[in-house]
Amino acid sequence: MNDLIYLDNAATSFPKHPDVARAMTDFLTHSAGNPGRGGHELARRASDVVEEARDEIAKLINAPCAARVVLTHGCTDALNLAIHGVIRAAVRHGAPTPIPVVTTALEHNAVLRTLHCYATDNLVALTIVQPDEHGYTHPESIASACTESTRLVCVTHASNAMGTIQPIDEIIRATRRAAPEALVLVDSAQTLGHIPIDVQRSDIDLLSIAGHKGLGGPTGTGALYLSQNAYADHCTQDEARVFCERRGGTGSIAPGLEMPTALPDALEAGTANAVGFAGLLAAMKHHDPSAHDHEMALTQRLLQGLSDIEHVTIYGPTTTENRTPVVLFNISGICARDVATILDKEHNIAVRGGVHCAPLTHESIGNGSDGGVRASPGRATTQSDIDTLLSAIERIAMSATQSRSA
Ligand code: ALA
Repeated sequence: MNDLIYLDNAATSFPKHPDVARAMTDFLTHSAGNPGRGGHELARRASDVVEEARDEIAKLINAPCAARVVLTHGCTDALNLAIHGVIRAAVRHGAPTPIPVVTTALEHNAVLRTLHCYATDNLVALTIVQPDEHGYTHPESIASACTESTRLVCVTHASNAMGTIQPIDEIIRATRRAAPEALVLVDSAQTLGHIPIDVQRSDIDLLSIAGHKGLGGPTGTGALYLSQNAYADHCTQDEARVFCERRGGTGSIAPGLEMPTALPDALEAGTANAVGFAGLLAAMKHHDPSAHDHEMALTQRLLQGLSDIEHVTIYGPTTTENRTPVVLFNISGICARDVATILDKEHNIAVRGGVHCAPLTHESIGNGSDGGVRASPGRATTQSDIDTLLSAIERIAMSATQSRSA
């Protein structure tokens, strides 16, 4: 990929640390037994890798124990597990339907489409809270949308489209006051690996995690953290507040036809993506929290440069405060997808253009049909990469202006 300038790290981080590919190759060559199944050497080695990855994730988010980290096939998988699990449990516990659920217009389709499906079937009464004009959800708007019977509040930690970081601690406190029965699900797809998350200090019930973004691992890896409030120790399947319909082998208590009730096995049917977790483990060992300062310095340069270019609109705040290394913008007179195509074909710059799987975010900021151009620097991005992007944007903006006046 000679000379490629990769500015699409919000979609997936690139390049991965070379040890990620090495660890995956090494795993497939030397350790690729089935984790948790069988007592032989290869199965044991595979188990060790998977459990070490679980431990690393638990440490990173300060989970009280590694068993509360359920490994998934990605963040969407984790969100589905949580949302289906909470709704199904509430229905099994006899909660009257439709079940009140609150979410925000800043969510990714992984949340919105999953909830929409229940709302369409009238199993969920969905309230969608709008952000303010800067792209932030106000804790009091969440509290006002809750009722005493709200069972679930789903909030993203940061908008994937605009990068605005949401005040989750305040949102969780406001939810506790307004809806004591509700579980709070936080989507950390865009934040974990960039900014610290302490699930105990923030009192998060459910945290969905992506392995391939800020953590630098391969796609197909993720996790769901569950607090004691979300899934009590020693609860039975009937008591659990997250009920999983997925059934299958877990390698534990194999003679029984019932799923185990203890975490993580209760929610982990089938063979884990062990090779993926070998890669994620290697990535996490190289995780350098200080890289975030570098990414934010580049984001600042990008914001400043874009705001100096005529006919460019930046969405969300024009500062780096409370934002991830993500900038969404448009050039007047040319649609976002075309800008991304020109950057790709003519400048070898990878950004994402269009609607970023977050349709209500785009509606809320007024670019619902076309979306925007999203540039997201990463650890390997340089100042010169940002300057090259800015020159390219300047040229595209100028030629769009010329064609308008021709
Ligand atoms: N969720 C990813 C994004 O925001 C794919 O681009």
